[in-house]
Amino acid sequence: MSDLTVIVLAAGQGKRMYSDLPKVLHPLGGKPLLAHVVAAALELDPSRLLVVYGHGGPAVPDALASLPVEWVEQREQLGTGHAVAQAIGTVEDADTVLVLYGDVPLIGVQTLSGLLSLARPETLALLTVDLEDPTGYGRVLRDSDGRVVRIVEQKDATAEHLRVRESNTGILAAPAGRLRGWLGALRNHNAQGEYYLTDVIEMAVAQGLAVHTVRPATALEVLGVNDRAQLATLERAYQRAQAERLMLAGVTLADPARLDLRGEVVTGRDVFIDVNVVIEGRVSIGDGARVGPNTYLRDAVLGPGVEVLPNCVIEGATVGAGCRVGPFSRLRPETTLAERVHIGNFVEIKKSAVGDGSKVNHLSYVGDSDIGRNVNVGAGTITCNYDGASKHKTVIGDGAFIGSDTQLVAPVTVGAGATIGAGSTITRDAPPGELTLSRVPQTTRPGWQRPVKKRPAAKD
Ligand code: UD1
Ligand code: CA
Repeated sequence: MSDLTVIVLAAGQGKRMYSDLPKVLHPLGGKPLLAHVVAAALELDPSRLLVVYGHGGPAVPDALASLPVEWVEQREQLGTGHAVAQAIGTVEDADTVLVLYGDVPLIGVQTLSGLLSLARPETLALLTVDLEDPTGYGRVLRDSDGRVVRIVEQKDATAEHLRVRESNTGILAAPAGRLRGWLGALRNHNAQGEYYLTDVIEMAVAQGLAVHTVRPATALEVLGVNDRAQLATLERAYQRAQAERLMLAGVTLADPARLDLRGEVVTGRDVFIDVNVVIEGRVSIGDGARVGPNTYLRDAVLGPGVEVLPNCVIEGATVGAGCRVGPFSRLRPETTLAERVHIGNFVEIKKSAVGDGSKVNHLSYVGDSDIGRNVNVGAGTITCNYDGASKHKTVIGDGAFIGSDTQLVAPVTVGAGATIGAGSTITRDAPPGELTLSRVPQTTRPGWQRPVKKRPAAKD
């Protein structure tokens, strides 16, 4: 087959989004619409991939600078045909050009491969779809032998045309040399005063080319995003498909409608995910791990057998095998829990390593710390890591016991096996194996009485 050039149209304004963000940058599953289309195009392994941008100026190429595409500017948005014409200038005549849309994000690779399998030097391949309600779409007109003759836009259609349900998805494949010629001959004498890409169909027919049509595997694939309601519809469809994929890979979801995956997740065997879990970035969940309800995971690694109890936020952290986290725990970036660590309710851990079997079970803040194995950090312990200018480190040796309500004023080291008495403020290193405490000695004043209010004198 000839080389493939993909042209993605992404210059339109997206008026009906009522947004300062260009439409193709609105996220679906945590990723800009346009990035979905580019990902699908890349799977076809094209020799060139051009994206036509325009509305919003450099905002789109700036936001997606890492995509491996050639950016082509369309200064004025004069129509879909005009948009393709901006990009086709440098494309080899012998290439097949595939036109995609930056706001049609769920287009599938199988459907596109099917369309491309029809592409020949003397053929135009068109993706069409039968819609219950084709309002707004271009209609595909056929002759009495069923051959496609042209496409008529909604705004140029007669009442008879409007009864046609076969609709133009906009996606097509055509030989580049021919397409260049047709685009050069487009006129904008129509209801919208635009250069319509759809007018090339009639030109192809006039030159005796065959117009072949294919349908998408599902109608969802060709739905465009024009407003936020459609965006939400596609988001739900996308999430449903991801949930399906996870379940078929062996994950139990308490409710497939209540998982939001806005990134990538790798899962082991027998993973269980409860309701209302949001996953962003890159997350991996090991064999037998369980994620409780209402939990947010971002760029996290959960080892095998990890149990995340309800209502946790785990971001940029690594949780080792057999750890138990939550309920209501927050693990912040650069936190590493070794194995069988317990982190309990209202505990925040930031940029710290916690060794095997250690426990921080209640109401504590641990930041910039290095905690050894089998350490017990009592309720309400705070590492005072910040002096107002810089962050300092706390080191706690293996087997140490930190009494409740302790402040560890960093930089400070608590030796292995040390015990810190409850309520201490530790400002100097505590030696290993010893009890250290800083506490005002307790006193009792025998016979002391609480003051009592004086009764007003009785009136005579
Ligand atoms: C287009 C088709 C219509 C089809 C529908 C499917 C034409 C004339 N009509 O109509 O037959 O049923 O898509 O959704 O092609 N764009 C540019 N530059 C422009 C104009 C548009 O890049 O100057 C981009 C838009 O960003 C969008 C796409 O092209 O991604 C489609 O443009 P839009 O204005 O939405 O076309 P429709 O009127 O929906
Ligand atoms: Ca559209």
